[in-house]
Amino acid sequence: MKRQIRKLIPNQFIQFYKVIRESSNRKFITLFASSRFFSSVYYFLFSSQFRREHQAALQGRLKYYRSLNDIGQSSALLRRNTHRLEKGLIMQPRHPVFAEAYILETVICYHKAIMTPGLCIEEKKWATDVLKEYFSVVIHTKVIAKAKALFEAAIESEDLKASAVSQQSIPRDRSSYPELDIATEQLEALFLRRRSVRWYLPKPVPQKKIIEAVNLASLAPSACNRQPYEFYVVNDMQRAPIIAKCAMGTTGFADNLPCIVVVVGNLDAYPAERDRHCIYIDGSLAAMQFMLAIETLGLATCPINWPDIEARERQLAKELSLSVDQRPVMLIAVGYADPDGGVPFSQKKNNTLLIRNV
Ligand SMILES: Cc1cc2nc3c(=O)[nH]c(=O)nc-3n(C[C@H](O)[C@H](O)[C@H](O)COP(=O)(O)O)c2cc1C
Repeated sequence: MKRQIRKLIPNQFIQFYKVIRESSNRKFITLFASSRFFSSVYYFLFSSQFRREHQAALQGRLKYYRSLNDIGQSSALLRRNTHRLEKGLIMQPRHPVFAEAYILETVICYHKAIMTPGLCIEEKKWATDVLKEYFSVVIHTKVIAKAKALFEAAIESEDLKASAVSQQSIPRDRSSYPELDIATEQLEALFLRRRSVRWYLPKPVPQKKIIEAVNLASLAPSACNRQPYEFYVVNDMQRAPIIAKCAMGTTGFADNLPCIVVVVGNLDAYPAERDRHCIYIDGSLAAMQFMLAIETLGLATCPINWPDIEARERQLAKELSLSVDQRPVMLIAVGYADPDGGVPFSQKKNNTLLIRNV
């Protein structure tokens, strides 16, 4: 209907209307941008752009609190606190008493987690070993002694007491890590080889390679080691274009994409809004490693922007069965590059534009 009406109105009039609307919009925004209060009034009255984010952050918090009692394969709290203990263990000098403020919370969470049948086995091992190491070095204040008693009862009941602490799971000296055998030139060659490729051969992507690349992506850093993201893989030549078209930037080449990976951020990893951006940061760091890993496996990628537009979000959520607190970070096309397909040069900024020595 809207389109029909538009066809009847002369183009010049539409352009004139757009200019007027844009300039009055700018004046209007000047007023509302002048203070936080007015900005909130603006977004309450005139724009619903942030409403989904508000609900997503709250739903994430709610799910986080629920997850404290109902632990699935992984616990955000256990991961975070185990990591905090790791940092306490490597402190220079190490404090004789540390983690007193959260050790009880950690052990209670640990106990619930290890009783959960589906808990990821590596997470269980890591938390068990770090806690064993912690209690073996820390001075036992009243609180720590209580936590230790709870921990020992927990490992006794789950038959974890006798399992030896693996040196792999607890902090160790940097010198024990293998030396790097990659020259900067080799890394540069990989970075130069990785380009956004939009034209692919009609050849299936081996799932094994996706798994290998995700394993390498999982080695990326993440805030408090929570890794609040998942890779939703649509490795199907019929379905991948449907997913690709949910985004805006695939016009003209979506039908050619054999496999789409959607990096999804999980806001249920956080009890507080202050960390809500971590899903984008951690998700993007992992996405970059995924793309570089894919390149070494003989395939190519193209990152695709995810626009924060309600109708498109609904469409993608329906396709992937995402809940409100799960936010798409970006899409990544994956496939065997068509050797005859064009690749833009895309000049990069030089370092004088990128470095500010302050
Ligand atoms: C977050 C992100 C979103 C992107 N979105 C799109 C997109 O929607 N469509 C597209 O064709 N390319 C997209 N790209 C690819 C960029 O255009 C490309 O990375 C840039 O031009 C530099 O080229 P290079 O990747 O070959 O180095 C995106 C890249 C990033 C990192």
